[in-house]
Amino acid sequence: MRQISVRLGDRGYLVMIGAGLLSGVGEAVRPLVGGGKAVLVTVPPVRELYLQSVLDSLADVGVQPLVVTVPDGEDAKTPRTYLDVVGRMLDAEAGRDALVISLGGGCVGDLAGFVASTYMRGVGLVHLPTTLLAQVDSSIGGKSALNHPRAKNLIGSFHQPELVIADTRVLRTLPPKEARCGLAEVLKYGAILDSELFGILEGKAEEALGLNEGILEEIVCRSIEIKARVVGADEMDRGGRMLLNFGHTVGHAIESATGYTGYSHGEAVAIGMVAEARIAAKLGMISDGEVERIVRLATRLGLPTRASGITADELIGLMHSDKKVRGGELRFALPDAIGSGVVVGVTDRGLINEALSGVLEY
Ligand code: GLY
Repeated sequence: MRQISVRLGDRGYLVMIGAGLLSGVGEAVRPLVGGGKAVLVTVPPVRELYLQSVLDSLADVGVQPLVVTVPDGEDAKTPRTYLDVVGRMLDAEAGRDALVISLGGGCVGDLAGFVASTYMRGVGLVHLPTTLLAQVDSSIGGKSALNHPRAKNLIGSFHQPELVIADTRVLRTLPPKEARCGLAEVLKYGAILDSELFGILEGKAEEALGLNEGILEEIVCRSIEIKARVVGADEMDRGGRMLLNFGHTVGHAIESATGYTGYSHGEAVAIGMVAEARIAAKLGMISDGEVERIVRLATRLGLPTRASGITADELIGLMHSDKKVRGGELRFALPDAIGSGVVVGVTDRGLINEALSGVLEY
């Protein structure tokens, strides 16, 4: 088992990583429950596979949580689902000493985080991420969110968990689409922050896609180290953390434009990374050869690099709701080499339009 600290002073916490950890969560979670109500939020496919072993482990230490099952995917991140969870917590008389536990992927984690951050002005939170995407990215760093029809993750807060437990054995049952989506975020870390990780993925793309345990453990640990370091240096996303948005400015717009159903988050981010790499190339920050390296790796990881049915103007309109916009100017996290990046404001709408058009088919 590996432990990585997210260093945030009195809001700091551990990320525990290892095979089989879910069946032993009780011991680690017990001290965080105190005398309050534990509320476990999960989704149907994960419930069937892993809920019982988590409940057994919690029962061993005398914890019987309220279990709330919410819709899978982005449907978890709606105001209606949020109010349903809060209603269930009220019915169960959960107080300010409640502990919310998410068991599932990024969407249920974002919802549970928002519930924990707002219920009675804030209660404790533990994430048990079961997808690659949630393990390497969304469970760490305290971002919680609901979607607005016009902008992904528009409604949200920063609310750090008290513990994250990433059981790498559960990745064995990951549907191929989920594996690809998680690998999109790993590609992101490599492209914008860690050229060695990019090289590891280039060397082992097929093994990673085939869920080879050794490779997955290596890339999960390395990605979590990066995320913990970045969040420790910029918890509130005002500086270096914005780099983790590479591919997301365009990606979120693609998700909104297609009603959160056309492309999964990882797929939209992959297309977004290619579009944003093209913007970087047009700005002279990287070469066309480096854009090609990103396109080739994304393709080998089974990710789309083009989108259809959307226009560049539509995307540019939606990107104005992006959280990085300042004074009406679009800002992007762009690579200035493979493994390094900067956040830049781009005012040349024609340049953005051209770069986007290169990844869009209408
Ligand atoms: N997923 C990007 C971040 O947490 O900042």
